[in-house]
Amino acid sequence: MRRGKPKSRRALDLGCAVGRSSFELAKKVPEVVAIDFSRVFIRAARDLAKKGSLRFPLKLEGDHRQIATARAPSGKFRKRVCFRTGDALHLPDLGKFDLVLAANLLDRVRDPKRLLEKVLPQLVRPGGLLLLTSPYTWSEEFTPRSRWLKNSFSRIQKLLHRRFRMVRRKNLPFLLREHRRKFQLTFADATLWLRRG
Ligand SMILES: C[S@@+](CC[C@H](N)C(=O)[O-])C[C@H]1O[C@@H](n2cnc3c(N)ncnc32)[C@H](O)[C@@H]1O
Repeated sequence: MRRGKPKSRRALDLGCAVGRSSFELAKKVPEVVAIDFSRVFIRAARDLAKKGSLRFPLKLEGDHRQIATARAPSGKFRKRVCFRTGDALHLPDLGKFDLVLAANLLDRVRDPKRLLEKVLPQLVRPGGLLLLTSPYTWSEEFTPRSRWLKNSFSRIQKLLHRRFRMVRRKNLPFLLREHRRKFQLTFADATLWLRRG
């Protein structure tokens, strides 16, 4: 009998925006639930899932835009993703997942402690994985100052350690395009956690 890593059947992409990472997950996992607060993002993601591509105005400079096309993977993978609007801090019962991705969400929610301590442990099945990435860009626009995680990584470890064991950590660079000649380079702290049994 061949032994290997157990296959993931269900994945959740929390704070999925327009679904780029959800579609990537769907290449590996047969059922992906993808949730975002923004109706506009979910509408765009559903459009992408339906049609496979989406035209959008890409800023070149000033008011000058050019129509560009975003493309999603083949229909077989797109059909695996169910996009829903929702608040990560107040989710309906979604059942348990083999893998939960919360990419760059932590510093965008009103109560990051609640997300780590209450929400995420409920969503990952024992033996399942949680992938967290965050640049820890705390801002009062999203999170009241009193709820910022000071010394973020240590706080995350303290809040997760009863339910999760960290199995990997790396710096994950990402580039945000503002216009043709301006980009912002950020390094997210990416940590992978195994749910204790
Ligand atoms: C910085 S973006 C990250 C998007 C994507 N995960 C990525 O890494 O490119 C944060 C996303 O989380 C969503 N978001 C913010 N608060 C949320 C909440 N309480 N529940 C669900 N989604 C939320 C925003 O609408 C936005 O799409």
